[in-house]
Amino acid sequence: MKQVGVAIVGTGWCGGIRAETCAAHPLVKSLHLAEVRAERLEEIARKIGASSAVADYRKLLEKKDIEAVFISATPEDTHFPMARDFLAAGKHVFLEKPIALELAEADQLIGLSQKNKLKFTIGYSQRFNPKFAYVRKSIRDGTIGKPVSALVSRHITRSLGKKISGRIKLSPAAMESTHDLDFVLWCLEPARPARVYSQTNYGVMQASTGAPIADTQWIMVTMDSGLSFVVGGGWTLPPGYPNFSTTWIEMVGTEGALLVDDSHKDVVLNTMKTGMQLPMSTMPGEFVEHTYAGPMAAETVHFLEAVAYDRPVMVAPEHARMVMEVYIAADLSAERNLPVDLPLKSAKGKSLEKAA
Ligand SMILES: NC(=O)c1ccc[n+]([C@@H]2O[C@H](COP(=O)([O-])OP(=O)(O)OC[C@H]3O[C@@H](n4cnc5c(N)ncnc54)[C@H](O)[C@@H]3O)[C@@H](O)[C@H]2O)c1
Repeated sequence: MKQVGVAIVGTGWCGGIRAETCAAHPLVKSLHLAEVRAERLEEIARKIGASSAVADYRKLLEKKDIEAVFISATPEDTHFPMARDFLAAGKHVFLEKPIALELAEADQLIGLSQKNKLKFTIGYSQRFNPKFAYVRKSIRDGTIGKPVSALVSRHITRSLGKKISGRIKLSPAAMESTHDLDFVLWCLEPARPARVYSQTNYGVMQASTGAPIADTQWIMVTMDSGLSFVVGGGWTLPPGYPNFSTTWIEMVGTEGALLVDDSHKDVVLNTMKTGMQLPMSTMPGEFVEHTYAGPMAAETVHFLEAVAYDRPVMVAPEHARMVMEVYIAADLSAERNLPVDLPLKSAKGKSLEKAA
């Protein structure tokens, strides 16, 4: 068995899950951490028995022992420089979404990974949710015939919306619906997006963040095959379970349809202390003793296997770039109140609030 030296950069919520998953996996030879919060670095390094633990990720670039890195740091403007530095240093890179803030940066990362013959992928973890994979399978094997239209609606809690928009002023399209755009575009391959129309809706986020951040955003995408689909997302649900996420999917085909409830209402915990809660309902998921409820552990192992056995990654970076172009177009459409044709004319696209 070929083992791999692995690094995790940013050991917060997602990086913590990546680190714990890697620490328990036999394909991992050594595990290195970079984290700027000293107390968190110490806590997670002790928990997983890290081979090395540093504050400055650049100290990991020259370590020969490291072949692959998971970049899970925030704010999101760290993604491009970190991925660029690790790809330039010859390491395989798994990067949490978003791939970058500008299309030109995404192009540079893709070019570097190709030039240095490295694996490079983006964390669209919902692909490892079996319900989502089932929708794609039902299209690929012909069960529901030719796809006719699709809808995905996702909402997350207000506290998570505030956490995200407290660190970077990106839209719900860029930070949340990005997963569902990835998913539908993955289902509809090889069709490509041709036109995007979006509207943003303002409620509580603008007042609480002091920035032009929408509560919800709706996006209609027309594909070059003629099909259109709708993806919507919001991040202002009241507290229920920490980082709760609820999703509804409709995929309609010529021979059948799939209606998928991923609203996590199947397990109800009711306690005197917190009242009713819906556990195991976050997007990345959580460890439950010897098991894992959610997609992120399987996604982490898939990348390890891709590196160790030289297999394809799940999300091609070119696909993530296409998703990025769609959510940038969505933000432009909402700003202009007009549909936006793809491809975008300038590769220097930025999301709405970032550009403002
Ligand atoms: N796939 C999913 O389901 C999913 C869910 C949530 C978040 N995400 C993505 O994952 C990324 C991480 O999100 P999170 O919720 O885990 O964030 P987080 O804020 O909980 O963790 C980020 C960590 O990065 C650390 N950090 C900041 N600057 C650093 C630096 N220069 N070097 C090393 N560490 C640094 C922070 O101290 C923090 O501990 C985000 O970009 C987000 O878009 C994906």
